[in-house]
Amino acid sequence: MIVENSLFTDKVALVTGSSRGIGKAVALAFAKAGADVLVNHSKPEGTSKTKAEGVCRQIEELGRKSVAVAADIGSKASVGEMMEAVYGWRGRLDFLVLSAARAPFKPIEKLLEREMKQLVETNYMGNIFCIQKALPLLEASGGKIVFISSLGSRFYNPSYPLGSMKAAMETLVRDCAQSFAQRGVQVNAVCGGIVRTDSFKTLRQYMDDLENIPDELCVSPEALADVVVFLCSPLARGICGQTIVVDNGLSNSLYRPAWAKKPKL
Ligand SMILES: NC(=O)c1ccc[n+]([C@@H]2O[C@H](COP(=O)([O-])OP(=O)(O)OC[C@H]3O[C@@H](n4cnc5c(N)ncnc54)[C@H](OP(=O)(O)O)[C@@H]3O)[C@@H](O)[C@H]2O)c1
Repeated sequence: MIVENSLFTDKVALVTGSSRGIGKAVALAFAKAGADVLVNHSKPEGTSKTKAEGVCRQIEELGRKSVAVAADIGSKASVGEMMEAVYGWRGRLDFLVLSAARAPFKPIEKLLEREMKQLVETNYMGNIFCIQKALPLLEASGGKIVFISSLGSRFYNPSYPLGSMKAAMETLVRDCAQSFAQRGVQVNAVCGGIVRTDSFKTLRQYMDDLENIPDELCVSPEALADVVVFLCSPLARGICGQTIVVDNGLSNSLYRPAWAKKPKL
């Protein structure tokens, strides 16, 4: 997307799960649009930290400020510490993007109790912890919340229990959008199609033939990130509680005679 690199000057974005994949693309898109970015990742050490610091360096090369913040969003205490770091960094928050997700890929009948707990704690409760803790700062700035959903919220996917969490979150987005509107905080979601990230590589092991899906039916992390930036921009001021599907047309047609044909979008 062609955006002014001053669109978000002096604004601050927190992107959960932005050490890699879609979250990373969102963090970079915010920086290109002029925002300073807090890059959240899950673990204080190891590749989680190294990758997050790499994203920060890329943001700094774009001329913006950035800091990595380790926090497991499934832990209320950890999210509380992250928000203290957000406040301590610039004293403000304009955009909260909820991209972090972690889930087992297995059929419902095989889910262990601890996997179910992790599914709900990270992908539902964790997002609510982030929203609750960020709300005072977002209210002060007239900020925006964007949740990253997936087509699993509305279509069957084998071995994808995360889909039911995405459906719950899309409902929560509608709920929050309405209840926060009076407080000047805008809430929406972007629902991505198939994106070739690390989680896609894992999913391949559970879904036969997934890697044979033509590139044309996949969508890039950058295409999702552009819509997140749009939803945070004044151009989207009239959009409230919506989930915008960004899937390169994957879910738009039952009839697909020539999958190899690139849609002219
Ligand atoms: N890939 C797709 O096809 C697709 C399609 C539509 C929507 N989505 C959604 O887009 C989002 C990003 O997906 P992705 O494919 O980019 O994922 P990914 O490449 O697997 O990256 C996951 C990110 O989330 C972070 N994370 C995981 N658990 C966390 C926790 N408890 N606390 C904080 N951060 C945590 C990871 O941090 P570490 O580096 O520290 O592990 C990493 O930065 C997810 O919500 C996913 O459901 C994905």
